[in-house]
Amino acid sequence: MSNLHVSEHPLVKHKLTLLRDKKTDHVKFRQLVRELSLLLCYEATRDLRLTDTSVETPMGIARGSHVTHEIGLVPILRAGLGMVEGLWELIPSAEVWHIGLYRDEKTLQPVQYYNKLPPEVRVHLCLILDPMLATGGSAVAAADILKKWGAPLIKYVGLIGAPEGVKALSEAHPEIDIHLAAVDERLNEIGYIVPGLGDAGDRQFGTT
Ligand code: PRP
Ligand code: URA
Repeated sequence: MSNLHVSEHPLVKHKLTLLRDKKTDHVKFRQLVRELSLLLCYEATRDLRLTDTSVETPMGIARGSHVTHEIGLVPILRAGLGMVEGLWELIPSAEVWHIGLYRDEKTLQPVQYYNKLPPEVRVHLCLILDPMLATGGSAVAAADILKKWGAPLIKYVGLIGAPEGVKALSEAHPEIDIHLAAVDERLNEIGYIVPGLGDAGDRQFGTT
């Protein structure tokens, strides 16, 4: 799948292994989510638009570049929240707009309960942030919302995907690049990714 990018970075693999470990407590879990998000964001933003500029160093004039893409971060509540801190380390000026979606436990369909998009579109790139791409229902719904709003370019940054979720998002929105740390084996009968990491929201917020 040409729009799927699974990181091969050794630090990503190392930190993801720690994240999956059921013995990892929620303080360490949050730190790892932040670090992994930063590393994946680095890869997801490698094609940002630049303009040429120059800068005066103590020794002379150097040619330089400015990023001209305006970026909006769209964390999906709750679990996407923990990814924002990592991305802000790289892009401190990025605006953040929250979308609240939860999965109905029986149907696994996403239910929207919050939307904080501004009235006018003022960015070039929206990054959807959500650690788990399970059935893909939440990611497809978030992309639907952003497209309806007028987002010109959307990318998805997550941590673990199931093959089912990757397929669903790619088929519904083939132009959206999907950046993940891993694609796992499958979904289980209650829609959890196996082996995955369990419930990403509960593990971040200590609500198990
Ligand atoms: C989790 C996760 C995704 C969704 C993925 O959220 O953060 O948003 O499930 O599943 P899907 O691909 O099948 O839609 P959850 O519904 O558990 O809500 P929470 O983040 O508030 O815990
Ligand atoms: N949401 C999670 O938090 N974990 C999964 O495995 C699937 C959906």
